[in-house]
Parts: sequence; structure tokens; C-alpha cells
Amino acid sequence: MVWTSSACAAGWGEPHLAIVSRSENEADRVASVTAPTSDFTAPEQFETHPAGAATSFEPDTQDAFSFPSANMSFERELEFAVGNGLFKKLWVTAPASTQSSDGLGPLFNARACQQCHIRDGRGHPPEDNEDPGVSMVLRLSIPKVDGEHDLSANAPEPTYGIQLQDKSIAGIAAEGRLHIDYETVPVTMGDGTVVNLRKPTYSVGAPAYGDLHPDVQISPRIAPQMIGLGLLEAIPEADILAAADPEDADGDGISGRPNRVWSNEYGQWMLGRFGHKAGEATIKAQSASAFLGDMGLSTPLTPDSWGDCSPAQDNCRQAPNGNSGDEQVEVSTQVLDLVTFYSRNLAVPARRAADAPEVLRGKSLFYAAGCTSCHRPKFVTHRLTDQPEQSFQLIWPYSDLLLHDMGPGLADNRTEWDANGQEWRTAPLWGIGMTRTVSGHSYFLHDGRARSLLEAILWHGGEAEPARETVRTLSAADRAALITYLESL
Ligand code: HEC
Ligand code: HEC
Repeated sequence: MVWTSSACAAGWGEPHLAIVSRSENEADRVASVTAPTSDFTAPEQFETHPAGAATSFEPDTQDAFSFPSANMSFERELEFAVGNGLFKKLWVTAPASTQSSDGLGPLFNARACQQCHIRDGRGHPPEDNEDPGVSMVLRLSIPKVDGEHDLSANAPEPTYGIQLQDKSIAGIAAEGRLHIDYETVPVTMGDGTVVNLRKPTYSVGAPAYGDLHPDVQISPRIAPQMIGLGLLEAIPEADILAAADPEDADGDGISGRPNRVWSNEYGQWMLGRFGHKAGEATIKAQSASAFLGDMGLSTPLTPDSWGDCSPAQDNCRQAPNGNSGDEQVEVSTQVLDLVTFYSRNLAVPARRAADAPEVLRGKSLFYAAGCTSCHRPKFVTHRLTDQPEQSFQLIWPYSDLLLHDMGPGLADNRTEWDANGQEWRTAPLWGIGMTRTVSGHSYFLHDGRARSLLEAILWHGGEAEPARETVRTLSAADRAALITYLESL
């Protein structure tokens, strides 16, 4: 991990942004405001506004993740409200009397975006194997054959496709059920306390289309929180790549690699920013994939009206579709753009108690333990001509948006573009302290296996092992201060 030198080459470009280049003077100012702090006696300037001028100061209720960027104009707020309606809208089977809402399936996981991104927050694993909890999915694939799948993230499982869909329209069988077995893994802390982690094993229950391929790779994913995404999309690619250190040239044990993903939207390679392995370049592409894979709805970027039905699921591809309008898709460009605008503008709530002595002590421990090597505190976004909400903001996402080897404990053993089976994108930590208020639970990590912030830290391995060990051996009082700090984010 190096914050200043440009360890990675020029990058792939940012065709999704209307950028005004930084002047040299601005670049110097950015370098000085984003330099890491060493003063823990008081909050840093603007630290309480994690999303800059877009930060929300609304009350800390269960709706805290659902407000628009605070710097949004009244006119654009109306557009946000329409996008909100579409994010919540329940899609129905075709043919239906309302053509603009039909086309669901044939296979699907949920009928609305909001059913997984509950209250615009994160999802959770099912409580037991009978729970039809939908806010989690299993991605499926088999190893890629060189050359055959160059422009796709993965080779789909030959029968079940890219994802297990546990629901379906009438007359078509759902694919099967997500099945989890947990095993208890005790960890003894430095002070003798024992923390019991739960280690999941995933399988497909009651597979309806025969056995899965013997080499199937299964990757469990919880729906992430939706806040601050437009700001992550507006971070200069060069600033993300500058921290990449794929060969660990500075020898600090932390590498950090960008994911390189093919963009159907722009017909070129781009830096991956979204998803647990940074497998999508833009919010629009991620939203289009969600319409297709999670709900079985075609969009101009993902035009298959049958969604994730494979050629081996024949009657599935023959089912009636909801294609309509000039574009002959189920979700028009206009609808996709409104949902994208909404997803780009969910505000990050203001910090709470950032100046409390216990929080500041926890902050110093967060820095001392090396958490900031990956959970990078600050960036300044690009200056943009058409996105005033995201333009030139000092933001505090606590992520470098790079991939890190997190060790065998968290591995899904499934590749996604350049990400290997042990790598995950550093999860942004902004808003994480509001999880219990918004979501009513405290399940963390890509598959929700951690039941608390402490459990999430204790699962860190690989490049993050030294940071994890530092936390494991802290005194109970220091551990509590670190958690109090995370809860203030
Ligand atoms: C079945 C559950 C489910 C549904 C329905 C769903 N999502 Fe998601 N969403 C997820 C999961 C799981 C991920 C993480 C994906 C990954 O790791 O590749 C995700 C990721 C995202 C992200 C990227 C967030 C980040 O931090 O990188 C965006 C944006 C998003 N979804 C938007 C949408 C939109 C828009 C819809 C509706 C069109 C939608 N989602 C419907 C489960 C869902
Ligand atoms: C080597 C990079 C690295 C270091 C160092 C690191 N983390 Fe992480 N952290 C990650 C990655 C990657 C994830 C996502 C892992 C996953 O989802 O399985 C993550 C996830 C988390 C989460 C859960 C976030 C969520 O939304 O579910 C918390 C909390 C967290 N880290 C806290 C810490 C703390 C505290 C430290 C320092 C003691 C730390 N991390 C050090 C890379 C790192």
C-alpha cells in the first residue's frame, strides 16, 4: 500500500464521468487535505461530514439511509422521488395489464430492488434453511476456459447460469434453495475472553434441474448498503490506482489490486468499483445486472428477456416476456436511468459523537492497528459538470476500493474478472454504525456471517492478519473504544 506514488499504470479511463480536470493548485490542495492525520485530540476538519456537502443531517431513525444528497436541488429531488418509487416497485409476471411493470422472471430472487436492499441498507442471511429470506444470493460459475469467456466475469454453471434463483413464475420450476450449515469456531482473545465465530458452508438445497456441475464455484453475497455510491463512482481512478501495490513493493504486507472489468456500457475495460469483488464499473451497469440476474428483467444493457435462464432450461427461455416500447426491453432506458440516479444519490448520514474522548481514542487505535491501509479514510471526488451532488467533495468512505487477499477463512474460492478466490473489495465503513438502527441487525461481511463488528474484525485474515492480531490482543477497554469509534461512523 502506497498512498502517493503511482504504482499502477495509467488506468483505463472514466467514460462514465463528465470531468473538469484538476488544476495543479487544486491537486496540491487535495493532497494536503487527504493526507493521513496523526492528531487524535480532536476530530479533523470536515470529518463529521463523511459525504461532504451531500451528507445528510436527518434524524437517526430506521429511515436514515433513505434521504437524498443534502446538496440536491428541489427539481432533482423530484427525479429522486420517482427513482425511489421504481426502486420499491413490485414487478409482475407478463403478460399483465400494466405493461410498464411486467416481465418478472421466469426465474428471480426478488420482485423489487428494495426487497434485498432493505430500507436502502444491507441485507442479511436467512435465519434458518426454511426462511425464504431473499436479501442474499448465491453466484454460481465453473472455471473459465481461456479465450472462451474473455469478456465475461465468469463462465456460468452450464445449467443454472450465473446465480441461483430460488423463485419462479407459474409453470417454471424455481432452481432450488440456498442452504447454509454453520460450524462454531472459537477465538481466544488476549485477555482470555472467547468469541465464537460461525463458519458457513453453502450448498444448493433441492436442485430442480439435476445435479450441479462437479466443478461448481458458489459465492454467497449479501446485498450491501446503498449509501454514498455516487461519490464512490466519482473518485478519480488515478487516486485509487495510486494506492495499488500489487507486488507489495513497499513491503508493508498489504498489496491491494484494482479489478479490471469489461464494460458493455462503454465497450472497453474499466476499473471495477461496485459489488463485493468490485466486479462492476458503474452504478448503471450494476443496476442493469440486478434487473437481469435478481429479477429476470431485460434492460438495454442486458437485453435477454429470459434473464438467467440457461439454454439447458428450455421452457424457461420460451416463457412470455414483458418486452415493450421502441427498445423492446422490459426495463426502458428511462427507468434504468431513474433507478441509477436514485442509487447514486442516497446520502451518507453525518457522524455521531465524533468528538467524544472514547471515539477519538478508538480512532487512534484504528490507525495504529493498520486498518487505514485498506479502509482508507479520505478522497476528493472529481469536479463534474453534470453531477453537482458528487462534484469536488471531500469524502470519508474508509475504503480504497481495491481487492485484498483476506485469507482462506473468508474465501469463496471463486474468481471474478481479475479477483481471485481469496480477494474482496475493502468494504466502505461509512454509515456502518447505523446498521442496527436501519436494518435491525448487525450482520456484517460479504455473506453476513459476522454477528457483530468484533466478529467482522476477527474474520480478517491474509493481508489483514496483523491488524486482526492487534485487535485480538488489545485490552478489553481498548477493544471497546475501537468498536465505539466504528459505531460513530
Ligand atoms: C436478490 C437480492 C437483490 C436485489 C433484488 C437487488 N440487489 Fe443490488 N445487490 C445485491 C447483492 C448481493 C449485491 C452485491 C453484488 C456483488 O457482490 O456482486 C448488490 C449490489 C448492488 C449495488 C452495488 C453496491 C456496492 O456497494 O457496490 C448496487 C448499486 C445495487 N445492488 C443496485 C440494485 C438495484 C438498482 C436493484 C434493483 C434493480 C437491485 N440492486 C436489486 C442484491 C440484490
Ligand atoms: C488488508 C486490508 C484490510 C485491513 C488491514 C482491514 N480491513 Fe476491514 N475489511 C477489508 C475487506 C476486504 C473487507 C470485506 C471482507 C468481506 O466482506 O468478506 C473488510 C470488512 C470490514 C468490516 C465489515 C464491513 C461490512 O460492511 O460488512 C469491518 C467492520 C472492518 N473491515 C473493520 C476493520 C478494522 C477495524 C480493521 C483494523 C483492525 C480492518 N478492518 C482492517 C479489508 C481490510
